[in-house]
Amino acid sequence: MKLLITGVNGFVAGSVMAHAKGKWEIHGIGRSENLANETGLIYHKLDLLDGEKLADLFNEIRPDAVIHTAAMANIDTCQKNQEMAEQANVEITLSIANLCRQLGSKLIFCSTDAVFDGTKGDYTESDVPRAVNFYAETKIKAEKIVLVASDQNVVARLALVMGLPVIGKGNSFLADTIGKLEKGISVPFPVNETRTPIDVVTLGSALVEMAGNQFGGIIHLSGCTKINRYQMALEIAKTLGYSTELIQSVDSNAMEGRAPRSNDVSMDNSLARKVLKTPMLTLSEGLKLTLHFKI
Ligand SMILES: NC(=O)c1ccc[n+]([C@@H]2O[C@H](COP(=O)([O-])OP(=O)(O)OC[C@H]3O[C@@H](n4cnc5c(N)ncnc54)[C@H](OP(=O)(O)O)[C@@H]3O)[C@@H](O)[C@H]2O)c1
Repeated sequence: MKLLITGVNGFVAGSVMAHAKGKWEIHGIGRSENLANETGLIYHKLDLLDGEKLADLFNEIRPDAVIHTAAMANIDTCQKNQEMAEQANVEITLSIANLCRQLGSKLIFCSTDAVFDGTKGDYTESDVPRAVNFYAETKIKAEKIVLVASDQNVVARLALVMGLPVIGKGNSFLADTIGKLEKGISVPFPVNETRTPIDVVTLGSALVEMAGNQFGGIIHLSGCTKINRYQMALEIAKTLGYSTELIQSVDSNAMEGRAPRSNDVSMDNSLARKVLKTPMLTLSEGLKLTLHFKI
């Protein structure tokens, strides 16, 4: 069985690769040099915006499943570069969904808890998304494309992803935070953003599981601890033995140059706990897992 991973040099993709290793023939698309440099990965260097080359590659590989992690994933960058964000998050997803439909490949799309406006919290899969920033707008459009393309496709809404990069690098806030705490630099964390963080190891396992099972539709992949980002950072600093005085509480609406954020995008993970073999963890369990995980 062939698995194609987009954004293969990214943070989430590193864990996906680790879990797929030995079970799938793994193909990965990245646009830079192969940062993952992982034995067993068949690496394809490609800008996903090149629709013609992308179609050729799909027809050559004919993947059984595609885990689409590639995106412009930084909320503030999307707000400032809306045309590029639309291309990266919507147009590329449309090309991939069409190719998957033509070849009968199952598509697992990485969406986000940020699709919700944050006024309610504990969001379930049947709650209606409402964007408060442009990143969320692009993800909501992409979700619709993926769901319309085929009943077998999956829209996986990821909570805030916590962990150390498993393979390669990517945008890990934990790695950045540890780097700063190590140097005694204080780190600001919003007190007004409530999330249900998921560790990157559990997430990779869940995404690979869905590539190979019968589940189709929307699913919330989130941890079992509902917590604001400031409290979460305190927990992390305590667990790792750093001074909690270095963790600063801030209001994200007062942080300069930031796109609007939703307050409480905690997600209910009942469906994931019901349909997946991969267990959803608490914050401390997830932190332990990501700190000690070896491939
Ligand atoms: N991390 C989180 O907390 C979080 C939470 C919710 C949802 N998500 C979603 O989960 C997915 C993975 O996130 P992540 O944290 O792993 O992001 P990441 O580390 O930034 O990885 C995304 C990858 O996509 C690649 N990419 C972007 N545009 C491309 C293009 N045109 N052609 C080829 N590759 C392209 C990037 O390549 P370059 O390095 O060359 O730019 C990057 O390696 C994203 O869809 C994100 O929206 C993430």
